[in-house]
Amino acid sequence: MARIVNLGVLVSGSGSNLQSIIDHIEKGSLPAKIGILVSNNPSAFALERAKKHGIPAAVIGHAGFANREDYDRKVVETLNAHGVELVVLAGFMRVLSPFFLRSFPMRVMNIHPALLPSFPGTHGQKQAFDYGVKFSGCTVHFADEGVDTGPIIIQAVVPVCDADTEETLSGRILKEEHRIYPQAIRLY
Ligand code: GAR
Repeated sequence: MARIVNLGVLVSGSGSNLQSIIDHIEKGSLPAKIGILVSNNPSAFALERAKKHGIPAAVIGHAGFANREDYDRKVVETLNAHGVELVVLAGFMRVLSPFFLRSFPMRVMNIHPALLPSFPGTHGQKQAFDYGVKFSGCTVHFADEGVDTGPIIIQAVVPVCDADTEETLSGRILKEEHRIYPQAIRLY
């Protein structure tokens, strides 16, 4: 029987990638459990999703932290308190400090809505669309100290059609994100 990996999922928003991970776990195709969900945003819809599925969640807002490392210390403490082995960034819109990355060496995964190393940073879908690429996609990679850099685990490619808008392209990419993130976690 496969070993169950204890995940700590970090979110800021809707949490559709979180949902895909939950769905794969629940249907038995991903040997993992979510030990804790951490959101930096108290109104993230991802928190509702966690509640519905009985997943423990913590909101860690930014107020009261002097700097990025102090904030990250609190997050790392929370992850460790829940025995997290692998950290999964699922739309977590903060750059991690070196302290965080040293705490989970090669154990932080990120998903990005573009074919890295192209179009890192925010709005990867829009950057690629505005550039006029004919193919775009998404990337799961291990996080390092750069922004959306670090060893690539899996990528998925989607075509950009003439009739596409940024929204239709983003939707096509997101569907692939939901497929490859659970796959990358399974590989781990
Ligand atoms: C996803 O498209 C993810 O790739 C992106 O945020 C979205 C979160 O959606 N992440 C980044 O842009 C990180 N640079 P979700 O909350 O519905 O999973």
